[in-house]
Amino acid sequence: MNDAGMYITTPIYYVNADPHIGHAHTSVMADVLKRVAQMAGHEVFMTTGTDEHGQKNQEAADKSGLGTQPYLDQQSARFRTAFEELDVGFDMWVRTTDEHHKQAVRAVLSRLHAEGVLVKKRYEGLYCTGCEMFKRDVDLDEQGRCNDHLTTPELTSEENYFLRIGVYQDWLRDKIETQPEWIQPDKYRHAVLRMLDEPLDDLCISRPKSRVSLGVELPFDPDFVCYVWFDALINYLSNLGWPEDEDRVARWWPSAHHLMAKDIIKTHCIYWPCMLEALGVAPPKAYLVHGYWVGEGNVKMSKTIGNVVTPRAVIEELGPDSLRFYMAKNMRTGDAPISNELVRRCHNGELGNNLGNLYSRVVKLAARVFDGAIPEHGALAPANQGLLDEILAIFAKVERTVSLETPPALAQAVLDAASLANQHFFDAAPWKLAKQPDAAAALADVMVTSLEALRIIFIAAHPVLPATSDRALRNMGCEAVRPTGSAWVLEARGLVPGASLGEDTLLFARV
Ligand code: MSP
Repeated sequence: MNDAGMYITTPIYYVNADPHIGHAHTSVMADVLKRVAQMAGHEVFMTTGTDEHGQKNQEAADKSGLGTQPYLDQQSARFRTAFEELDVGFDMWVRTTDEHHKQAVRAVLSRLHAEGVLVKKRYEGLYCTGCEMFKRDVDLDEQGRCNDHLTTPELTSEENYFLRIGVYQDWLRDKIETQPEWIQPDKYRHAVLRMLDEPLDDLCISRPKSRVSLGVELPFDPDFVCYVWFDALINYLSNLGWPEDEDRVARWWPSAHHLMAKDIIKTHCIYWPCMLEALGVAPPKAYLVHGYWVGEGNVKMSKTIGNVVTPRAVIEELGPDSLRFYMAKNMRTGDAPISNELVRRCHNGELGNNLGNLYSRVVKLAARVFDGAIPEHGALAPANQGLLDEILAIFAKVERTVSLETPPALAQAVLDAASLANQHFFDAAPWKLAKQPDAAAALADVMVTSLEALRIIFIAAHPVLPATSDRALRNMGCEAVRPTGSAWVLEARGLVPGASLGEDTLLFARV
């Protein structure tokens, strides 16, 4: 039994566009890590959802002609459906337009205002709507465009409320330097440290209603709404019922793991801990940062080039698990290529030819030689037992930790274990043994070994291939993986004698 809870979050996504592969990635990784943590015996609370305030959502809503609330509802539902189609098992769907969230945002604003740490002043700067942020010269390219959005930010001069965050700069730097695990991987920890080389500007926390109306009104000044980032970051607390629900906050907050891509580390690793410090709330436990999906050949995905990978299209062709597996295996800390063809190749090749082929050959032959049911079977011959020990050793090396190094390691382990089992099956050639009347015992031994190998592989693969794992295990008469509150111990032997072997053997239909 593992008492520690795990709180896993994703960014909440802007609803000004439809969900794409990048959004899907972070939410799928949160789901993979949720399942990994559950298999380690943790209780998990995992959240994902939509960020529905601010200028760019407002502009998109206006353009849609639907009216603001219907537009937000439609877009949030699109994200939710896209993630459900990928088997993302979130425990809460976040919407910043939900009343309980807005209540928490007001509570933060009122507290900071009452403490006198907010200042009102005029500010002139270059505003990028894409980033929903004021930009400094160093954030722009030679032509004065935002490095991320390649659009020219607008010169904006207005009165706003600000939070002095410069006072936390030394504290923050010290924390990052002394706790290397806090921001993972190191590459992004260093990136954040570099951002701290410059003195921190006061953080603008409001927008005048004359410019942006879609937001939470400041409780102490009705002419302003809260700045969208300030509002959105608070979801990580409001999801837990902060500030009223002290028990839930105490239960989950100390284990908060924030997942995100590299684009939003400044707001998360600088603004957010300063906001929390100002509130007297401890910082999150860890930041887990991944790179960006780009088109094949490392070109940016764009509608004009036609290389955009749409989750729905991939799922319709290949099912959710092949996409989950591809993303889990291939994303590291930098940019990684994805295309329909690359996912298809993974589906047909690594999954279909290796794991899928092994499964169908073994289960079909076993069903024939065992008359459709798992037999009673004693100790295995040493060579056969050796295979299972090797497979267990492969999975023992994959630590069940909430880290972005876990999904690729697990996906690779699944393939390595399947290759070993395939080789073993091929070498033992049970289809030949089946033709020799005096080889019945040897045949049964090999077949039980291969089935046990598949059972272990599909239990271990559950976080990355949940639907396939369910199907494969059930078809072999085994229990599917479900959270039990205790760690799942992989054992060499676990088939249930008498259980029937089903006919659901085509796991990755060739496309
Ligand atoms: N609304 C803010 C986040 C507020 S969180 C308190 C926002 N939204 S976003 O819609 O732009 O989503 C950004 C996030 O989407 C990235 O950090 C990442 O998780 C995911 N991705 C978007 N495009 C991506 C890729 N091309 N590749 C990988 N992930 C990317 O920022």
